[in-house]
Amino acid sequence: MTSGNQIRSDFLGFFEERGHRAVASSPIVPRNDPSLMFTNAGMVQFKDVFTGLESRDYSRAATSQKCVRAGGKHNDLDNVGYTARHHTFFEMLGNFSFGDYFKEEAIENAWDMSTKVLGLAPEKILVTVHASDEEAAGLWRKIAGLSDDRIIRIDTDDNWWRMGDTGPNGPCSELFYDHGPEVWGGPPGSPEEDGDRFIEFWNLVFMQYETHADGSSTPLPKPSIDTGMGLERVTTILQGVHNNYDTDLFQPIIKASAELTGHAPDGDMVTSHRVIADHLRCASFLIAEGVLPSNEGRGYVLRRIMRRGMRHAHILGAKEPLMHRLAPALIDLMGTHYGELRAAEALIKETLRAEEERFKATLDRGLKLLDAEIEGIEEGGKLSGDTAFKLYDTFGFPVDLTADILRGKGLEVDQQGYDDAMAAQKAAARAAWSGTGDAANQKVWYDIRDRVGPTEFQGYVAISGHAEATALVVDGAEVEHVSPGQDFELVVNQTPFYAEQGGQQGDVGIAVTPSGAKIEITDTQKRADGVYVHSARLVGEDAHVLNVGDALRMQVDPSRRSALCAHHSATHLLHEALRIELGDHVAQKGSLVSPDRLRFDISHGQPMTAEEIAAVEREVNARIRLCTPVETRVMGIEAAKEAGARALFGEKYGDEVRVVSMGGQDEGANRPWSIELCGGTHVANTGQIGAFRVVKEEGLAAGVRRIEAVCHEAAERHFAEEAAVVADAGALLHAKPEEIGERIKALQAERKALEAELADVKRKLATGGGGASAAEMLGDVALTVREVEGLGPKELKSAVDEMLAAAPGVVAVGVNDGGKGSVVVGVSEPALSKGLDAPSLVRVAAPLVGAKGGGGRPNMAQTGGPDGAGVAAALDAVKAAVKEKLG
Ligand code: ALA
Repeated sequence: MTSGNQIRSDFLGFFEERGHRAVASSPIVPRNDPSLMFTNAGMVQFKDVFTGLESRDYSRAATSQKCVRAGGKHNDLDNVGYTARHHTFFEMLGNFSFGDYFKEEAIENAWDMSTKVLGLAPEKILVTVHASDEEAAGLWRKIAGLSDDRIIRIDTDDNWWRMGDTGPNGPCSELFYDHGPEVWGGPPGSPEEDGDRFIEFWNLVFMQYETHADGSSTPLPKPSIDTGMGLERVTTILQGVHNNYDTDLFQPIIKASAELTGHAPDGDMVTSHRVIADHLRCASFLIAEGVLPSNEGRGYVLRRIMRRGMRHAHILGAKEPLMHRLAPALIDLMGTHYGELRAAEALIKETLRAEEERFKATLDRGLKLLDAEIEGIEEGGKLSGDTAFKLYDTFGFPVDLTADILRGKGLEVDQQGYDDAMAAQKAAARAAWSGTGDAANQKVWYDIRDRVGPTEFQGYVAISGHAEATALVVDGAEVEHVSPGQDFELVVNQTPFYAEQGGQQGDVGIAVTPSGAKIEITDTQKRADGVYVHSARLVGEDAHVLNVGDALRMQVDPSRRSALCAHHSATHLLHEALRIELGDHVAQKGSLVSPDRLRFDISHGQPMTAEEIAAVEREVNARIRLCTPVETRVMGIEAAKEAGARALFGEKYGDEVRVVSMGGQDEGANRPWSIELCGGTHVANTGQIGAFRVVKEEGLAAGVRRIEAVCHEAAERHFAEEAAVVADAGALLHAKPEEIGERIKALQAERKALEAELADVKRKLATGGGGASAAEMLGDVALTVREVEGLGPKELKSAVDEMLAAAPGVVAVGVNDGGKGSVVVGVSEPALSKGLDAPSLVRVAAPLVGAKGGGGRPNMAQTGGPDGAGVAAALDAVKAAVKEKLG
């Protein structure tokens, strides 16, 4: 028996031999098309090659493409489990020609592959062609020798393949396998075509046209080929079974599910095993690509798929979460060809386990409610929209899960009632917000959110991507288009731009349209609880107007984003290092993450010492050097707290949270070294942070310290600036860096000595060299009066002392110091015993320098006032008073 894995490699090998490049599967989340939710066919990655927008260095390719058809134009979710051939995830084998070969060689390749490589009996194959395509019919006759009754003409859209409402398309020709008359069913186009006898396994599309957004079609630059063969279907045929789930592409998973639940793999629980196997494949591939369960966009499709699988685990009676225990069977089966599965094994298991644990908590109660409601509904009736909404809102039942449960009992959901209940809740939320006057809650953003939904953020795994402009806002009002030079706010359906949150600044970057209009994005903010708003300006030529509905390629400024990621991750390491160094009382009080620095406020009673700061730096840098991966998971808030995650100050947390771990494992505590609830973007590995340095530590408020630090390139710049300062100082001092300290000490000592010397000289100068020559003798009392320059109050006093020593009696010294007048009077024996005292004398001088009074001891007193020009008069008055007293 040929295994499914063998068929995949035989297919690629055959086409490589015929000059095709074997190209790896593109991601399931399309990188090149904003209108597609998931890659739904092999040609998606080549869409722009068909239209001539992109060129590659090969014109023939072959792939095994990961496809998801759940959500969007091709949606098979509801059928999975109930039919033999529907899947949410499948592999499409395809060969492509980009203007190289066309119909004839495509048919020849398909025929040879089917009959020679796969070994299908030629007489078992029949084909369809589009009714308008006589050429294809003729080629089938010529190449395969098919008789006319085995070439079936179909004139419906079934034989016209299109990727979506827009994009490349063309007539197609499908290959069918006939299982023989013992199986019920009729050929394509017949009323019994849905039977199992005739199975379509390969679709050849003769790509000739491109449909545009306005509905018009134009021919492709060159006719091309796109084919798709479902690996699961062709494996079913080759393995002689009638149900895709009976092949070796599913059986190992189904057997593992049977073993763990005790229900036979082919017994009456087979549907549940099949749903689980399909959904496990789809969920695991999506998780491996970074999609995580959420309530929006692709994350919500993933959640719906996971929860549908989990309900079937519940039907199988699994007491413990089941799906993550089946992941090893899947990875054994497919991890060799799809290495991403193996690389993401831990993330896949953890995400599945956490989601199942969360859902288990409400599944039982929700089912009880639903069972009770169902009892009251008549056969063929509808479940009320309010109950369906309650199941969604309170118990986490996606509405299609509820519909799935009801379907088994012949009932439906009142969809209109459900939509009404959902709308009422939204209106209530809007009413609660409106009137707060807050920019984030202006009506315009709610209107946009109601119309186009919240923005899907793709920036955790990518920094560029395609998007569609869903709203343009100028001065708070929506507009249909903006012109070059205009500032506006841009809303798109999906964006890699991070909106400011949790202290991390919003992303900046550019967006371009296919016609070359360029938009500068200078900030990104979140509004109305989930609408990402890009502050934008249209630059460039006049011809480049931007319209609502235009396609855009969004590109986040990569180096700024790297610097932001580094500073955000460094903040987490800093947080943990602070706890270790300062103690468990350290709680985050606020933070700012910019590309140039980080700021982190903590509760801590006193300034950090230099040693503490150095110890924190050492710890953070040691964690950086460990170069361990940064891991992100999404889990329930309770589970996150149990895992030891630290919640951040001031953040609003929903029921589920992102948990970011880094710094390796803390063996003692059996948890990651750093584990925090965080919605920010981070480096993939702490090594990318580079180096870390605290640049400032200061008090912010009582009991709150603020730490500023740099890392990454900002740290390099900081080190370079520090080095430049040292180099400049060294040059000025004519010293080597290590001598600078000594040189400064020597200069300080020298300066001190010079200052002392200078003061001495000034005083000497002021006192006239200390001689008594200037004194006037009034009997035995010497009276010395002098106006000096350049002496401060302290020096005045010592000058007075010195002058009294030289000429005992009365000394009055005044100075006009920059407009302020000071007068100091000293009195010694023999003047004291003659009834003279210093305070009385300065009181005489005081009014003349504009002072109210003066004071001091009998032997030394002082006054000072704003009137420096009055110093001479003040001294004269003192002189007169002394003379009067002694005279
Ligand atoms: N693109 C074609 C399909 O999906 C081959 O069927």
